[in-house]
Amino acid sequence: MEVYSEKQQIAVAIDALRARKQTLGLVPTMGALHKGHLQLVKKALQDNNMVIVSIFVNPTQFNNTSDLKAYPRNLESDIALLKTLGKNTILVYAPTVHDIYEGRPVLQKFDFDGLDFEMEGKYRHNHFNGVGTIVKRFFEIIKPDNAYFGEKDFQQLAIIRKLVDKHNIRVNIIGCKIHREASGLAMSSRNTRLKPEYKKAAPFIFEILTAAKNQFGTKSATKIAHWVEKQFEKHSLLKLEYFVIADAKTLKPIYRKSNKNKYRAFIAVYADDIRLIDNIALN
Ligand code: PAJ
Repeated sequence: MEVYSEKQQIAVAIDALRARKQTLGLVPTMGALHKGHLQLVKKALQDNNMVIVSIFVNPTQFNNTSDLKAYPRNLESDIALLKTLGKNTILVYAPTVHDIYEGRPVLQKFDFDGLDFEMEGKYRHNHFNGVGTIVKRFFEIIKPDNAYFGEKDFQQLAIIRKLVDKHNIRVNIIGCKIHREASGLAMSSRNTRLKPEYKKAAPFIFEILTAAKNQFGTKSATKIAHWVEKQFEKHSLLKLEYFVIADAKTLKPIYRKSNKNKYRAFIAVYADDIRLIDNIALN
């Protein structure tokens, strides 16, 4: 399995693939790969002749340096995991910050039609501008036919679709279902940093989302939100940052249910100093 750290090198490999009319899938990641990431890679392998997995902890999407520093990095074990899926069909692009940003990392500002003002955008200033900056850069360097993103970061997925739309980028965006541990906890690179008691407590997040889904048919969004807040007030380890029921397209909080629209519940919780997010389709 080839591992590239420079865009000039990977450009040569991509040109060779294109000359052979091979289709190309891209799975952008920040590494510390787990089964959720691998699910995306497996789907990409089914759809394309070749798959590029990018592994890059993107500094411009972190809003605090301690989170950026603490982000788990483990290129060797990431490569070993990817080798189990396809030695000859996967290329890894693990660039340096310099290779991507050519100097000081600079954030590009985007107009995402307000999708970035909701939920994560309220708590993570400029986060989605950072994600937009790096993903657009990857699309320019790699020019994939298809790119794969998880519904685990549902707002990110919506914003990437908007980015592609607004900038007329020729790539199909494919959303993939959330991969969960047996306990229901959504898989995340951050889970590896949870202390044992918090790891044990964290499945509560999905329990609450499931209960909210069950209540959605009969109770108003406001009532459900109050109920969720109460459950977290009673919890000794987990701290709720937000719980929002929103329209799955506009991501705006719901004020009146309509049978025509799809809704989702979104949640962010602190387990100690680790921030966990999750979401669930309600209808
Ligand atoms: P990262 O958190 O590494 O996630 C990479 C991709 O894996 C994202 O599309 C994410 O939604 C997906 N993913 C993570 N956990 C998942 C799970 N449990 N089930 C399904 N998919 C899951 O998201 C990023 O990196 C970055 O913001 C990135 C897009 C790479 C830009 O830097």
